[in-house]
Amino acid sequence: MKHPVFEKLRIFAPGPTPVPEAVLLEMSKPTLHHRTKEFIAILERVRKGLQFVFQTTQPTYLFAASGSGAMEATIVNCLAQKDEVIVIDGGKFGERWTKLAQAFGLTPHVYKVEWGQAADPKEIEKLLKTHPQVKAVLFQASETSTGVFHPVKEIAEVVKKHSDALVVVDAITALGVCNLPMDSWGLDAVVSGSQKAFMLPPGLAFLALSQKAQEARKRSNIPHFYYSLKAEDKAALTGETAWTPAVSLICGLDLVLKNMQTVGLPAIFNHHQRLAEATRKGLKAMGLELFAKTPGDSVTSVWVPPSIPEGKKIISLMRDDFGITIAGGQDQYKGKIFRVAHLGWFDELDMISVLGALEITLKKLGHDLQFGKGVGAAAQSFLESGQNG
Ligand SMILES: Cc1ncc(COP(=O)(O)O)c(C=O)c1O
Repeated sequence: MKHPVFEKLRIFAPGPTPVPEAVLLEMSKPTLHHRTKEFIAILERVRKGLQFVFQTTQPTYLFAASGSGAMEATIVNCLAQKDEVIVIDGGKFGERWTKLAQAFGLTPHVYKVEWGQAADPKEIEKLLKTHPQVKAVLFQASETSTGVFHPVKEIAEVVKKHSDALVVVDAITALGVCNLPMDSWGLDAVVSGSQKAFMLPPGLAFLALSQKAQEARKRSNIPHFYYSLKAEDKAALTGETAWTPAVSLICGLDLVLKNMQTVGLPAIFNHHQRLAEATRKGLKAMGLELFAKTPGDSVTSVWVPPSIPEGKKIISLMRDDFGITIAGGQDQYKGKIFRVAHLGWFDELDMISVLGALEITLKKLGHDLQFGKGVGAAAQSFLESGQNG
């Protein structure tokens, strides 16, 4: 453990992610009452700001919940009991769609994708042909447990071509990281959460629905109360939310969205791409092998090297020696892989720091590496990829 006077906690997990000081300050202001003119004005800006990030003209919904709340809201409002759905399950969060579908009496046809691999749109085409009654295809844009980015655009195209099913995308660690234009790609439900690229603490879930998904709501018969979009629509007529919203988080979100709009989406995507690329190069230069075959720009997953028999020690030493939280593998990959996040409020020097700490940690655990190789490769990558855009 470091000396408490000098210890600095650094979080490199794929959520929660660090929160900028200005946002912390904004959230520390006295709590506004949620049915006042001031707060309604904030909420109106926030809803528009979310449309900007979702790249949609459709209304956006906010819930005081973690991301899973918006996943549940999608199912209970847009689908009906016994509906057949296809779930792309390539990791821990793919599994969550299956569990949610089962919990609400749907019939999921699960397309199991090996962890670390991306979904193949041709397999989805086959499943759609075998199950012509399917009402929705549920999947992740970025499967956080493996670091894989699924081919969202291609999957949406296949679904549209071969069926009438809704394209339902968990973009919890993808939105605000890479291009995911909801309207132009024909995505019907897109879900996200505050504690990822939105640089906020956990506690807000977001949802946007296409017109087709709004239509689908009419046939839904799944019991629900808190996640009632009907109640939300009614409250939105006066610029409010149905229930007491997470006021302080929404004030923080207002600032984040203003900043995101000032910077612009292309620069945000470019920034994440640069950090991800440098991280991948840095880790490879340390003699490590990437786990994801098609890695996204949110989180980099990497195999624990054979030289380190106890992979979990990497996580605990990083925490104990440097106050750094990185994520381990989940389920069967516990101790076998680890994950370094770069979504949200990270910059070049953050990535150089985490790579430097990893070099020391891996060496301490017996991995043969030359100090500076990983850090140097990342620095070179930053130099080559130009000024932060
Ligand atoms: C892709 C993905 N889906 C769903 C979730 C679940 O979100 P939450 O824990 O906010 O409910 C997460 C959380 O990390 C995630 O990364």
